[in-house]
Amino acid sequence: MVKIIAFAGSGRKDSINKKVVKVAAKGAEEAGAEVTIVNLEDFNMPIFNEDLEAEKGMHEGAQRFKEMLMQSDGFLISSPEYNSSYSALFKNAIDWASRKLDNEKPLEAYKGKVAGIMAASPGALGGMRVLVTLRMLLENIGTMVLPTQKSVAKAMDKFDENGQITDEATEKALKNIGKQLVETCQKLKA
Ligand code: FNR
Repeated sequence: MVKIIAFAGSGRKDSINKKVVKVAAKGAEEAGAEVTIVNLEDFNMPIFNEDLEAEKGMHEGAQRFKEMLMQSDGFLISSPEYNSSYSALFKNAIDWASRKLDNEKPLEAYKGKVAGIMAASPGALGGMRVLVTLRMLLENIGTMVLPTQKSVAKAMDKFDENGQITDEATEKALKNIGKQLVETCQKLKA
């Protein structure tokens, strides 16, 4: 069975990107994958610093996050757009999980994996500029990014007060990213 890790690049409790990634995760589950949704803030990763790493080794939360990535076939990521790019929370997690232990190959958590990427913003562009930076980052570290992507504009208007999606076209597009991710992972595993 295809295993997917799904997460948002925001640690905010009421994050719109957390809501978006859940919809895509549902699409992946409906396509037959085992999906684990994680909150990046729960891993409590300190800001990466090589001195800290040399002194204390891999942070325990970073190690847990990295192992989850390593055991998965693909990632579903919805990112906020912070000043046209991804959040520090997201990049910090990516940097920690890019570090290798002695018995590992470089970038083992990312190479050969597939990602479906999304962005959500209250603004009219839906964070579409972050998708460019996100795609570039992931591809540079060996993760194939699906050509189909989705930015959700005016995202606060597309979910109800219980966090459920109310816009049918957006729901369909997000679930489709989940489905395409699973189908691509299945083809790669075959
Ligand atoms: C933002 N926001 C924002 N929005 C956008 O569409 N383009 C941008 O460049 C920025 N820049 C930006 C910088 C910083 C530091 C913050 C805190 C916010 C607004 C952002 O889209 C909004 O806060 C979202 O709600 C963040 O996503 P979550 O936390 O709801 O998932």
